[in-house]
Amino acid sequence: SNTPVKVAVTGAAGQIGYSLLFRIASGALLGPDTPVELRLLEITPALKALEGVVMELDDCAFPTLAGVEIGDDANTIFNGANVALLVGARPRTKGMERGDLLEANGAIFTVQGKALNEHAADDIRVTVTGNPANTNALIAKSNAPDIPAERFSALTRLDHNRALAQLSRKTGTSVNDLRKMTIWGNHSATQYPDIFHAEVAGKNAAELVNDQAWLENDFIPTVQKRGAAIIEARGSSSAASAAAATIDHARDWLKGTAEGDWTSMAVVSDGSYGVPEGLISSFPVTTSNGNYEIVQGLEINEFSRARIDASATELGEERDAVQALGLLG
Ligand code: NAI
Repeated sequence: SNTPVKVAVTGAAGQIGYSLLFRIASGALLGPDTPVELRLLEITPALKALEGVVMELDDCAFPTLAGVEIGDDANTIFNGANVALLVGARPRTKGMERGDLLEANGAIFTVQGKALNEHAADDIRVTVTGNPANTNALIAKSNAPDIPAERFSALTRLDHNRALAQLSRKTGTSVNDLRKMTIWGNHSATQYPDIFHAEVAGKNAAELVNDQAWLENDFIPTVQKRGAAIIEARGSSSAASAAAATIDHARDWLKGTAEGDWTSMAVVSDGSYGVPEGLISSFPVTTSNGNYEIVQGLEINEFSRARIDASATELGEERDAVQALGLLG
């Protein structure tokens, strides 16, 4: 149909927004035949900058961009939204404790969860990119009791893509030859990039690489600490790659993963792989038509078990902290 799909983006005047909006508007999310209406949320002091971004969107004359609405009220901006990309968050500033950060973001994601609950379209799908992404998604979900829990997700696709890039380099193959990469757990330094089920041109990646030292001392820490390495090199955090991953995540969720492959998404745990039920944790998932399924039946070796458990423990601690702050509705 030619009814525009309404895509809400928060933090639209930020770094990631500056890359994300133009790609969505040009059809990278929904394809060249689907008109898109952007609904952009910012805090009041950033609206002027956002007006400038909208001027640039106008100036691109994208054929797929059917309209843009901006504002600082989540109730208005989320009205009728089919897709919500929650990118805006409160960054950690000097002297801010972890608890302060959770509380500041809690204030954002409780309000946005409630606004989605009241105003989004029935087919809403929510992706949280803003950090701490998993726990922000948990807060939004908990404040949106009328939206099915499986409509909420958090972004670990950037970690997934980083892992693909590292494995491709190590094996001297193209990323097109790689399948079944998995990121488990939290989008944090405890995340576990797992190549034991991954394939390189049809062969098991761990067996092909056959290099435990590389796995433990290079691959895993490189993926876990890539965000910090980008900040160190660029002077600001990853933005274009985060925008690309946000699009990959939301597009694959709507359009489906390829036969014989899967992707990584942080979704509500159903207890699979021993991850406590209710946590929003990254899993290998297949998707089709806006639904996902956690890949079942993978054998988890001891090495992986310890790492999956450690990240789940961290997620449990974050949940307990926001619960204690009364942010889970
Ligand atoms: P940024 O600081 O450039 O932009 C964030 C924007 O959000 C700002 O314009 C700010 O005004 C806005 N904002 C703050 N509170 C808001 C609210 N209540 N409603 C609407 N907008 C609000 O940050 P950047 O670089 O664009 O990153 C955004 C977030 O994404 C950060 O939390 C960052 O840590 C996270 N991130 C997550 C990644 C992931 O893989 N999950 C990767 C990279 C970044």
